[in-house]
Amino acid sequence: MQRTAFIVGAGGKVGATAAYAMALKRVVSEIVLIDVAEQLVHGQAMDISHATSFTNGVRVRAGDYSDIKPGDIIVITCGAPQKPGQTRLELLEINAGIIREVVQQITRVERDVFIVLVSNPVDVLTHLALEVSGLPKERVFGTGTALDTARLRVQLARDLHVTQQEIEAYVLGEHGDSSFVARSGARIGGIPLTEFPGFSAHMLSTIDHDIRSAAYKIIETKGNSHFGIGDVVAELVGALQQEQASIFAVSALTTGEYGLKDVVVGLPALVNSKGVRLLDRYPLDEDELGKLHASAEVIKKATQAARKPTLV
Ligand SMILES: NC(=O)c1ccc[n+]([C@@H]2O[C@H](COP(=O)([O-])OP(=O)(O)OC[C@H]3O[C@@H](n4cnc5c(N)ncnc54)[C@H](O)[C@@H]3O)[C@@H](O)[C@H]2O)c1
Repeated sequence: MQRTAFIVGAGGKVGATAAYAMALKRVVSEIVLIDVAEQLVHGQAMDISHATSFTNGVRVRAGDYSDIKPGDIIVITCGAPQKPGQTRLELLEINAGIIREVVQQITRVERDVFIVLVSNPVDVLTHLALEVSGLPKERVFGTGTALDTARLRVQLARDLHVTQQEIEAYVLGEHGDSSFVARSGARIGGIPLTEFPGFSAHMLSTIDHDIRSAAYKIIETKGNSHFGIGDVVAELVGALQQEQASIFAVSALTTGEYGLKDVVVGLPALVNSKGVRLLDRYPLDEDELGKLHASAEVIKKATQAARKPTLV
């Protein structure tokens, strides 16, 4: 399947890095970069296209909304990033208006598209994009806790001396301060994580803390967090081209799964050429279900605020 991937906000760190990762991984044949900063996005397109000389065959160019065709994938990374010490939810006021305007521009041109939200607060903005676009819930999803999950797997692999491919474990909930490691269903080579040689409760609580503070630490030290999410976006765009589904913890609209309704939250989901579909049987114990509901409540409140006219 050959879909073109568009990145709106590609002049910035996250969008440009996602384009670079997609080009190196060759997950699409064409990548079109859009940004209000036109000169900047032309420069990014030129620079990234030069990284394709060894991988061959991926076209990278600057463009605009009128280039969108049926079936294309639109990744949205535009808007303000966190400043040191700022939470993702504190970005809502600035980013809600930007996302609303961008989604309207996309759907005015083409409605047969897939939208992948990256801008923060990603769960809330994904819900806003769904409502503004009126697209089916399979077509609009956010990166959710996919990056937090990548961070979890990297750290578990390092601490337990096992390759990441053997690890099946997720961070779920809000992509934010109320996320949590779903430990009861976590497995390594089929063995429950908590019974794996070398595992300790202290190890997991350190990892849990490190994951939730990772973005703050990266932003404090270098300004933007962009390499990890760039790779996650490339994997998701790749999955959107395949008939066989891959599983990611992404944010999608709940319709009764785990007792949740009408809230967009990070949960394990199938992603393939048809879009996203939440898995409703991932094993969660009572404590994890409580954490999931508490996290969903945080998102729900922020989503209600995002619907207020002053914010949108
Ligand atoms: N979901 C995740 O896991 C995750 C991880 C890291 C960062 N992020 C988020 O990604 C977003 C981007 O971060 P960044 O570091 O790339 O920021 P950045 O400031 O480097 O880039 C943002 C870009 O958006 C562009 N932009 C602003 N308004 C626009 C509009 N209306 N149309 C088109 N482009 C527009 C700007 O010109 C800029 O180039 C932030 O909200 C950040 O919090 C999400």
